[in-house]
Amino acid sequence: MTRRKDTDQGWARDASDQAAGGPTWRYDEMKHSGVDYSDVQVARNYDARHTQFRDFKRETEQIVAMLGLDNSATVIDMGCGTGAFALHAARRYRRIHAVDVSQPMLDLAREKAKEAQLANIEFHRGGFLTYEHRAEPADAIVSTVALHHLPDFWKQVGLYRLAQMLRPGGRFYLFDVVFSFEIERYEAAIEAFIGTMSRSMGPAGQAEPKMHVLDEYSTYHWIMEGLLHRAGFQIDTANYINEFFAGYLCTKRVPSPTAAVPTGDTRPQR
Ligand SMILES: C[S@@+](CC[C@H](N)C(=O)[O-])C[C@H]1O[C@@H](n2cnc3c(N)ncnc32)[C@H](O)[C@@H]1O
Repeated sequence: MTRRKDTDQGWARDASDQAAGGPTWRYDEMKHSGVDYSDVQVARNYDARHTQFRDFKRETEQIVAMLGLDNSATVIDMGCGTGAFALHAARRYRRIHAVDVSQPMLDLAREKAKEAQLANIEFHRGGFLTYEHRAEPADAIVSTVALHHLPDFWKQVGLYRLAQMLRPGGRFYLFDVVFSFEIERYEAAIEAFIGTMSRSMGPAGQAEPKMHVLDEYSTYHWIMEGLLHRAGFQIDTANYINEFFAGYLCTKRVPSPTAAVPTGDTRPQR
């Protein structure tokens, strides 16, 4: 068989692609779409802005209760940011792998872990598409408000990669901005999303919800359900909040990630 090598067109994987950390066609998850979390100031302001409308400890306790694991568990926090989940979860589990593409967000999370004298968190710079989990398969993966940074094809790749990091029967909790309004009223729904989020985030955070819609990749609930299923997860519960947010508690299916997607109406029940 003759193999063509044509790196100019970007289709071939060659030694130089691999040396640079992967094929040249892979989506560059380090480049940040929308809010630029690689900006030190954005990272430094993050906790002050988010704690206006979030309680990190309470959120973590709710996730811990849903996962139902004992304290010997290993958990990956994908897109950990400043450690909203990882820091509190470290008091409940044996080991946390906290992963993020942003060095400033990771630096802050590490500083906070040091202050709190938490020695069981390993920090990794990487993301859905590039993190290589070299430790034992995880008992659970948690990802909160991070997956929407990837376009849908890459969300599917990222979710599939996460499933490979989990032990069979392992749990996955995903929370993100996911739209569940009917398309006929998309204008009113998006206006409501921007208005609600702007009020929650205060004057300094007003540009963010608009940027979310313009430059980030939140998708529809029925797409997200399909992506999770095809990645190899069974969705145990799907919780849709205000037509803008969704929380999915999932279990890694055994054995086939390619089992047929269930048909039928998956619209959220209101
Ligand atoms: C809105 S913050 C959420 C942080 C944290 N999970 C929380 O709940 O507060 C989004 C985070 O996702 C990270 N991120 C963006 N793209 C990512 C990717 N491809 N893989 C992993 N993390 C990513 C950003 O750097 C940022 O820290």
